[in-house]
Amino acid sequence: MSDELTGVLVLNGVNLGRLGRRQPEVYGSTTHAQLAERLVVVGESLGLDVEVRQTDFEGEMVQWLHEAADAGVLVVLNPAAWTHYSIALADAVVQVPRVVEVHISNVHAREEFRRHSVVSPHAEAVLAGFGLAGYELALRHLAATS
Ligand code: DQA
Repeated sequence: MSDELTGVLVLNGVNLGRLGRRQPEVYGSTTHAQLAERLVVVGESLGLDVEVRQTDFEGEMVQWLHEAADAGVLVVLNPAAWTHYSIALADAVVQVPRVVEVHISNVHAREEFRRHSVVSPHAEAVLAGFGLAGYELALRHLAATS
């Protein structure tokens, strides 16, 4: 068995840098920095080398997905509002072999427009409504199957 850690990029989209301050009744009181710290620790315990990034710029997210596609890195992606309309993001996700889509809130129990994801058809799994634990569940899934 190899000691090498499997690389995972956790990519958070637009407005998720505001975690802890943004609608805490929906997204909780944990900040993005705290989430990132926690996911790195959880990753280590699972044999995963986790890097967490967040951007409010769609093109930057697309470039990170290209990077993941070229490096063969596993991806946990919360596309945030881009989920619902960004064909550019969907076209980038198609190129990445393994993407788990995560939503903190239960997008199906909210406004109608949140029920549709242009990303989900290209994701191997989708988690919604588990709060921040959804990211950990995604990591556990990737660790168990990589
Ligand atoms: C979200 C749900 C999206 O509808 C919303 O635009 C977000 C966050 C979630 O994690 O629940 O920004 O992806």
